[in-house]
Amino acid sequence: MAESLIITRELTKVYRMESYTVAALNQVSVEIAAGEFVAVMGPSGSGKSTFMNLLGCLDSPTAGDYYLADDKVSELSGDALAAIRNRRIGFVFQNFNLLPRTSALENVELPLLYSHVAAAERRSRALAKLAAVGLAERAGHHPAQLSGGQQQRVAIARALVNDPVLILADEPTGALDTRTSFELMGLLQQLNRDGMTVVLVTHEHDVASFASRVVSFRDGRVVDDQQVAHPADAQAMLRSFERQAA
Ligand SMILES: Nc1ncnc2c1ncn2[C@@H]1O[C@H](COP(=O)(O)OP(=O)(O)OP(=O)(O)O)[C@@H](O)[C@H]1O
Ligand SMILES: [Mg+2]
Repeated sequence: MAESLIITRELTKVYRMESYTVAALNQVSVEIAAGEFVAVMGPSGSGKSTFMNLLGCLDSPTAGDYYLADDKVSELSGDALAAIRNRRIGFVFQNFNLLPRTSALENVELPLLYSHVAAAERRSRALAKLAAVGLAERAGHHPAQLSGGQQQRVAIARALVNDPVLILADEPTGALDTRTSFELMGLLQQLNRDGMTVVLVTHEHDVASFASRVVSFRDGRVVDDQQVAHPADAQAMLRSFERQAA
């Protein structure tokens, strides 16, 4: 087994409201090895996004520990947490979260701006990532001039531009049709085969079937954790989908 990239120990997030408290995440202990492709499933409100936000250093736990590679992230805050978030983690969201009045290239460059990379290098690194997702020709297009699938690929190029150790995706296919979902999952599987660790939230069993492990949440706890012996091949499914459509 490869070395653990992620270790959570009794990770807990409690939201205190005026009249009640919610344990959005309740003592979750999970280990994820470098190179895994994990699907996170569970009903609405079960804690999936809370878990992802903690893994992504977007939020701090109420209790418990979180280690990312060699860093004990759960004891960091402020700038140290932001640095880990920006340099080591790539995010992909359901609604792409691209800046509308900005070209694909500039959207991909954005994380490099925050890490103070010089302009020429920003441009060349962003172009390389756009090429890696098959969008070199669309670098000058604004999001509105791109299809949903293309916008999500720009978001993936942006997620990759800092060469992160981890890609976190919360419902990345939620706004995409079936064919485009297969295309996106094929891209994530390709990145994973090249060594990227991927953790993805989905409601759809079809989408989860491309992962090599499925972790299921209920009421803030992990209730099931299964290795998938033979994950589906998204590129093969895309080809057969296109044959049927032809
Ligand atoms: N900022 C917050 N303040 C208060 N309660 C919150 C907050 N964020 C989440 N919660 C609560 O924590 C629980 C878990 O929410 P979470 O968003 O993690 O669920 P989820 O599994 O991602 O659901 P969905 O599938 O609908 O996206 C829910 O009961 C939710 O209402
Ligand atoms: Mg959610």
